[in-house]
Amino acid sequence: MRLTKLYALSLLLASMAAVTIPSVGAQDRLFSNEAKQKAEALLKQMTLDEKVGQLNESSGIVMPGLGSGKPDDLIANGGVGSILWQMDVKEINRLQHIAMEKSRLHIPIIFGFDVIHGYRTVFPVPLAMASSWDPSVEEQAQHLAAEDARAAGIQWTFTPMVDIARDARWGRIVEGAGEDPFLGSAMARAQVRGFQGAKLGPNSVLVCVKHFAGYGAAEGGRDYDSVYVPEELMENVYLVPFHAAEEAGAGSFMSAYMDLNEVPATGNHWLLTDVLRKEWGFQGFVLSDAFAVGSLVTHGYARDGEDAAYKAITAGLNMDMASLTYSHNLAKLVKDGKVSEKYLDEMVLPILETKYDLGLFEHPYADESKVDAILSRPEGLVLERKLASRSMVLLRNDNRALPLSKSLKKIAVIGPLGDSKQEIEGGWTVEGLFSPGGGKSHPVTILAGIKNKLGPDAQVTLVAGPMPARLYPGFMDAFSGRKPAPPPSPEEIADWIAKAKAAAADADVVVAVMGETASMSGEAASRSSLDLPGIQEQMLEAVTSAGKPVILVLENGRPLDIRWAAEHVPAILEAWYPGTEGGDAVADVLFGDVNPGGKLPVSWPRTAGSEPLYYNHTLTHEPEDAPRFTSRYWDINSKPLFPFGYGLSYSAFKFANLQLSKASIGVGGTTEVSVDVTNTGSVAGDAVAQLYIHQRYGSASRPVRQLKGFERIALQPGETKTLKFPLGKDELQYWNPQTKQWIVEPSDFDVWAGEDSTASLHAELKVTQ
Ligand code: NOJ
Repeated sequence: MRLTKLYALSLLLASMAAVTIPSVGAQDRLFSNEAKQKAEALLKQMTLDEKVGQLNESSGIVMPGLGSGKPDDLIANGGVGSILWQMDVKEINRLQHIAMEKSRLHIPIIFGFDVIHGYRTVFPVPLAMASSWDPSVEEQAQHLAAEDARAAGIQWTFTPMVDIARDARWGRIVEGAGEDPFLGSAMARAQVRGFQGAKLGPNSVLVCVKHFAGYGAAEGGRDYDSVYVPEELMENVYLVPFHAAEEAGAGSFMSAYMDLNEVPATGNHWLLTDVLRKEWGFQGFVLSDAFAVGSLVTHGYARDGEDAAYKAITAGLNMDMASLTYSHNLAKLVKDGKVSEKYLDEMVLPILETKYDLGLFEHPYADESKVDAILSRPEGLVLERKLASRSMVLLRNDNRALPLSKSLKKIAVIGPLGDSKQEIEGGWTVEGLFSPGGGKSHPVTILAGIKNKLGPDAQVTLVAGPMPARLYPGFMDAFSGRKPAPPPSPEEIADWIAKAKAAAADADVVVAVMGETASMSGEAASRSSLDLPGIQEQMLEAVTSAGKPVILVLENGRPLDIRWAAEHVPAILEAWYPGTEGGDAVADVLFGDVNPGGKLPVSWPRTAGSEPLYYNHTLTHEPEDAPRFTSRYWDINSKPLFPFGYGLSYSAFKFANLQLSKASIGVGGTTEVSVDVTNTGSVAGDAVAQLYIHQRYGSASRPVRQLKGFERIALQPGETKTLKFPLGKDELQYWNPQTKQWIVEPSDFDVWAGEDSTASLHAELKVTQ
């Protein structure tokens, strides 16, 4: 009893002392007044069926097994607001002509597709771009992708994916910015700016922020699986990058596939209305993920299609992607009085406003004569190569194994990914080799990149070995029509190993290019193991035993179990899927024309059993570093192989002079942290200064560390720069599980600055009432 009273009192005191931060509706000017007026006027002329039509996104292609057909008649009847999965510009224009000429009100279609990391020029996968720790990488890439997409008739992209991923088994980790809400928010904002520009306009490509929300927390890392995330974790971690994207002006969101705490995201009123619209003030519209409205029945949440349509629309979902559940049921729901027409109007209005602001009414068609020239712009390739090398992370470099000398004469490139054009661009490409639109880009493999760099005098040989096979064909394999390779026979394995070893023995240096095929990560591509798949590890061990320097270049969509390599291979470069110019970009780094400066956006696990693994966990009763119970598992070190924020350079950096402009502030105040960063090496290079905090006590346990500032800077040898970061309300607040509010609490804070999440340069901040 006494304890309970004391507890209640302490809570009261805590809440009195804390500052409550009201949420702000940031999007009060998402649409122009002109668009608003025109959309309202148009809405008045629309029939019920035409309104429902705007809420339907139809498939633009016939997909085997998905029951979709040519939507011509539906379009002519005003039954289609949007089309997806159509990349052929001629077909896009043909369908648009039907909408503009045959439908009664001539409302243009908005064409959407997954322009995730480029169009014909394919940029590094999103996890790679996040590894640059440079938001301008994302912004520049997505700006070019937007110009390309818009020229080719696509005005809407289903990106950015801002799902926090704390588990590398989850295949879609490749599509996001990793595990951290602060870094993820910066990358989310940059992508919104890159695609949409400062404001929605005739050159913008509308973004669709996905998958709202919590999708990355799938149980066991199994794609589509249920998610149980308490509200405090949603608010403090999973929702953070979504809110950042919304505040940056994102025009649309996509609801996720899975159950969130047993309510499917696509029919989740708390997510789509309470949080997104009421708390954040979102003005745009929400699209379901593909078939997700229909799937509300599969989830056991809706009785039938009518119930699914009712639950989705009343939860706040504007547009139905591809399931036609709205088309078949919404008009009846309105006629039966279950959904008011006024509410339906509210659902339709932002879609019309978007179309006006995107300039679709004035310019509905793509100029087919210009598309090819725009998509093949050489400056796109130049940019791609630059951004790709900026996104690579040097994980190990013992005895300065890298950079390699350009006068090397014999190099053995080993591994199935060494010369694979399909893999180097990763999954989800529009006109990359591994794509439904397919085959129009000209990717440079790592073998080709090394040859380009060294010229004809060098002898660069390849021993590929078999492509690792998946147990089941992948989602992306289905798109590209590729069949998984059959596993090799024992004789074939022995033969490949012998060839690899002989090539290594004969070479001056071995560059092993290994990892995963593009279809091994992405949607429906989760893994139970993080091993290097196939016989790659055997090949790596064999070439290492030949006694020549070995460089391992990884091409992969998630961290892999590379414990053996991390002990035995002197240099490891994480290239992820670096894109169309990837091979040249890898060669730029291997031969020292570019000094690597990327950092890990994820904690690198030792093995799959370490997952989920993330640096910003809370302290426990017996912290990992305590003298007893030093490890969470008895059979493995529970710390990551490489920490969050980690990455090496050919240079070295010193962090010093960590200072706070004020060592003590009130709960509403701000202090400025400054730190000096010096390049102590002999070559120019990039450092990423990272700022972490920890709140020592309060009315909730706070993470052991949290990233609250970062900046990538270029430094000449001997040069010092002083960096400054604010620490105020935005950085110190958190959503408190007891008061259920955003608060800054009086407490003592640790502040660290340095090169990764284990930084030791320390200062203290006192926050007082
Ligand atoms: C399903 C995926 O989950 C989503 O990310 C994608 O945007 C849609 N399909 C459309 O292709």
